[in-house]
Amino acid sequence: MMEAEMKIFAGRNSKVLAQKVCDAAGVPMGRARTNLFPDGEVFVKLDDDVRGRDCYVVISTCSPVNDNLMELLVFCDCLRRASAKRITMVIPYFGYGRQDRKDEGRVPITAKLVANLITASNADRVLAVDLHAAQIQGFFDLPVDHLSATPVFFDYFDSIKHELGDLCLVSPDVGNVKVAEGMANLLGADLAIINKRRLTGETVEVGNLIGDVRGKTVLMFDDMISTGGTVVQAAELVMEEGASDVIAAATHAVLAGKAMEKLAASPISRIIVTDTIPSGERCAPIANKLTVLSIGELLGNAIHCIHENKSISALFKRTAGAKR
Ligand code: R5P
Repeated sequence: MMEAEMKIFAGRNSKVLAQKVCDAAGVPMGRARTNLFPDGEVFVKLDDDVRGRDCYVVISTCSPVNDNLMELLVFCDCLRRASAKRITMVIPYFGYGRQDRKDEGRVPITAKLVANLITASNADRVLAVDLHAAQIQGFFDLPVDHLSATPVFFDYFDSIKHELGDLCLVSPDVGNVKVAEGMANLLGADLAIINKRRLTGETVEVGNLIGDVRGKTVLMFDDMISTGGTVVQAAELVMEEGASDVIAAATHAVLAGKAMEKLAASPISRIIVTDTIPSGERCAPIANKLTVLSIGELLGNAIHCIHENKSISALFKRTAGAKR
């Protein structure tokens, strides 16, 4: 396929990120409009011809999750009916990812249901970033390229390493230990682990700290900050245990519920996230602590490789953990 045959479109919530993706991939943004009917139904109209093209749509299924998910499905159907040759749904943040198993009786596995819906909408491929669990790739009956934002974080932390002093990576959730460990190895830092138990969607119980953080700058590394309960309680624990400073880093700035208030009042001095979910005005209460890194170039490079049928393995260099 020639480069000119590629089209990259943006969902309503991902226009800024999609522009960065287009810049990295070296193509102009595809023209399309998404509107809502008065009753809330979503409608997509393509203003570009996509017949026989290799098409990509950047949409995060972040809040409002169900509206964005429906927009993704409708966009995909729209491209299929307009005779796109291949459709890749680029999902920087995959909502419902935490509903990935039955951890009690009589509950759904909604991550699988969503994967089924995306497959049924006739997508050909999925490009995702830091899925909550790597196994979610297997929920799709189509190829999934699963990128890690770790190289983006590594470049950032490596560039400010001189400011950080004696550094200790802390995984506030055992599910992310391998990724935190990989990052600790990359940065030449120590590793500590906190065991956490989720009580409800809003509340967690932080248990013991395994490792020594006394006098160190703690870098919490997790896949997402949702209500902030996990990272704030973990930050309070490491400060009680003698840490000199605590920085929180997470790929997905879900920032739901009372996250802003909790993070603003917490001992966390800096919060580093990516633009898989737009931050904007809603993050004003934590603006003085917040740094947003972009994964636009990473996604653009991946799309370039997929389009050219080249391996994307090179993009996993400096990738921590074994999530791919
Ligand atoms: C847990 O499984 C995730 O890795 C995060 O630790 C969690 O989702 C964060 O949620 P919250 O910010 O609501 O504690």
